[in-house]
Amino acid sequence: MSYFDDVQEAVTFLREKLGRTSPRVGIVLGSGLGTVADTVTSPIIVPYQQIPHFPRSTVEGHSGRIVAGVLGGAQVIVMQGRVHFYEGYSLSEVTFPMRVLGALGIRAVILTNAAGGISEKYKLGQLVLISDHINMMGMNPLVGPNEPEFGFGRTDAGLRFFDMTEAYSKRLRSVAVQAAELDGVTLEEGVYLGVSGPSFETPAEIRAFRTMGATLVGMSTVPETIVARHMGIEVLGISCVTNLAAGLSTTQLSHRDVFETGKQSERRLASLMERLAMWISAVVDSEP
Ligand code: HPA
Repeated sequence: MSYFDDVQEAVTFLREKLGRTSPRVGIVLGSGLGTVADTVTSPIIVPYQQIPHFPRSTVEGHSGRIVAGVLGGAQVIVMQGRVHFYEGYSLSEVTFPMRVLGALGIRAVILTNAAGGISEKYKLGQLVLISDHINMMGMNPLVGPNEPEFGFGRTDAGLRFFDMTEAYSKRLRSVAVQAAELDGVTLEEGVYLGVSGPSFETPAEIRAFRTMGATLVGMSTVPETIVARHMGIEVLGISCVTNLAAGLSTTQLSHRDVFETGKQSERRLASLMERLAMWISAVVDSEP
């Protein structure tokens, strides 16, 4: 069985569970941000462990289930929890769920995460739109034979080499800015630098990352974005600044603080997400 066959098997299983619903927007919820899934109505819930070949999350704060249903009047499929490279999964395992969402036919994905703030501008709990990323994980999920089937016949998808100049969709970012304005939520923009973790960074690393142009640092999202772009899926990335990056505050970094700050931002994120689901669905639904 190939990797693509494994994805198809998971898709067949999920299609049966989801029935006639065919969500065009996917949402991935990061650390401490999982209860956003509770705002999905008419939910169909599928724990990851039931889905063939799906990796299981081992981290506190990542509950590990799919919630498909209606958000802001739009059909969405939410991944409540994700797995990370630092858990020991390969990047093809880490991105398996994204492949499954792609094969289910989503056209856009909203990736959320908890991140450390490198920019002095950011406040704790701040939501930041990701405008670009820097991959410092030391690995790319697409290393290995190219699998053109993952283009699903779409133009410029499933290619061995592909463009990443607009990895994070400009038009979806502009939709997000408008949605946030209506919600009275302040959205900054920033560059997310992905590390493998699991140790947090040293202050010297954070200074180096700032020099490189990063304003956020985290341990996820980058592989998912790369794989989504390989499939021709539009990406919107939103970070919640759960802590100031190493060396920028006198307190020690802890997963508990990251998690707790995420929790405090959930309500703001949930209300923004509702509008985003509606508007982004409208954008992608107007296309073939
Ligand atoms: N560094 C890396 N990943 C993170 C951080 C951080 O400071 N905060 C939340 N995820």
